[in-house]
Amino acid sequence: MKPSNRSERLPPYLFAELERKVREKKAEGVDVISLGIGDPDTPTPAAVVDALTRAAADPATHQYPSNRGRPELREAFARFYKRRFGVALDPETEIIPALGAKECVFNLNLAFLDAGDVALAADPGYPVYTGGPLLVDGEPVLMPLVPALGFAPDLDAIASADAARARLLYLNYPNNPTGAVLPDGLFDRVVEFAREHDILVVHDASYTETTFGGYVAPSFLQTPGAKEVGVEIFSLSKGWNMTGWRTAAIVGNAEAVAAYWRLKTNIDSGMFEAVQLAAAAALDAGPPAEMKVVYQRRRDLVCDALRAIGVNVTPPNGTIYIWAPVPEGHTSASYCELVLEESGVVLSPGGAYGPNGEGFFRISLTVPDDRLGEAVERLRDSLAR
Ligand SMILES: Cc1ncc(COP(=O)(O)O)c(C=O)c1O
Repeated sequence: MKPSNRSERLPPYLFAELERKVREKKAEGVDVISLGIGDPDTPTPAAVVDALTRAAADPATHQYPSNRGRPELREAFARFYKRRFGVALDPETEIIPALGAKECVFNLNLAFLDAGDVALAADPGYPVYTGGPLLVDGEPVLMPLVPALGFAPDLDAIASADAARARLLYLNYPNNPTGAVLPDGLFDRVVEFAREHDILVVHDASYTETTFGGYVAPSFLQTPGAKEVGVEIFSLSKGWNMTGWRTAAIVGNAEAVAAYWRLKTNIDSGMFEAVQLAAAAALDAGPPAEMKVVYQRRRDLVCDALRAIGVNVTPPNGTIYIWAPVPEGHTSASYCELVLEESGVVLSPGGAYGPNGEGFFRISLTVPDDRLGEAVERLRDSLAR
């Protein structure tokens, strides 16, 4: 049996590797604390679970859902965008539910790339921005995120040959893995760049609802002209503690939304309608406000502890991650392996997010405070050795 050449081109998926290592360590009897994956430990709000229970009891939700989504869900997304971002969306043409942002990112590659086409992807960045294009015989071209530019990509540094072949451009603010929030003026520059090169901008808004210190993250669609050149992927996974529910939507440019929908009707059969109704209730209620308090407290706990042991770290104003430099003499992979071996703490190696992630590690704040405190103490002991 031989897998396709296409799938052979993929690097191992970072989190599958992490899960394997954690299983191994646990089997050895180690008390592993995983700070690897950004998977909220706090339950989904009870009102959302109640909405699901009620909806699931209605047999009308039990049949094949429409891939276009129930009007209740599309309308709830439109209400949310208006209220939260001041962005008007037409629920008939500008919103389609997605089975999580991950599915949506991948399928956009299928919908918009032919063999040899380029997708411009942030480096470091969410691995699906690069794995997705490879799986459809496209070519991911990395845009380094420049710390001196607030982790914006330098659009002027993109080779004109790459810009000419580019069909997609992926952005994500607040940013995984760096924790950076949107650099001033970036979205305006991106709209101009996309117009000039006829590129579809895909803004992944997975973390707009997890921000701290009074920072409020904008939607890409608030930018003048954005809807002409782009779409946004909005996920309930992180903001509502709903990673397991697979609830997101693609919103924005009607042509792009239609292309994604047409593709989806050939791939999957849509989101369980009871989940759609629960997601609509979640959007109307808004994200649970207490999560910002929880993550900000954990952010401070980790950053204070890291600084106390001499790690130079900037507390982020968004996402659920801390991005920190590895000690001298280590690669990100060698450091993360050492920490796992010595302390049973799982960190994500920065290099797994792209060459510009090398030299860093990522800590996810999605474990309870006491376990996070314990993990940081173990890190301190391991660094002191
Ligand atoms: C930037 C980014 N996009 C998308 C996802 C996946 O989100 P979803 O659960 O909606 O598929 C993640 C998950 O960590 C992420 O960090």
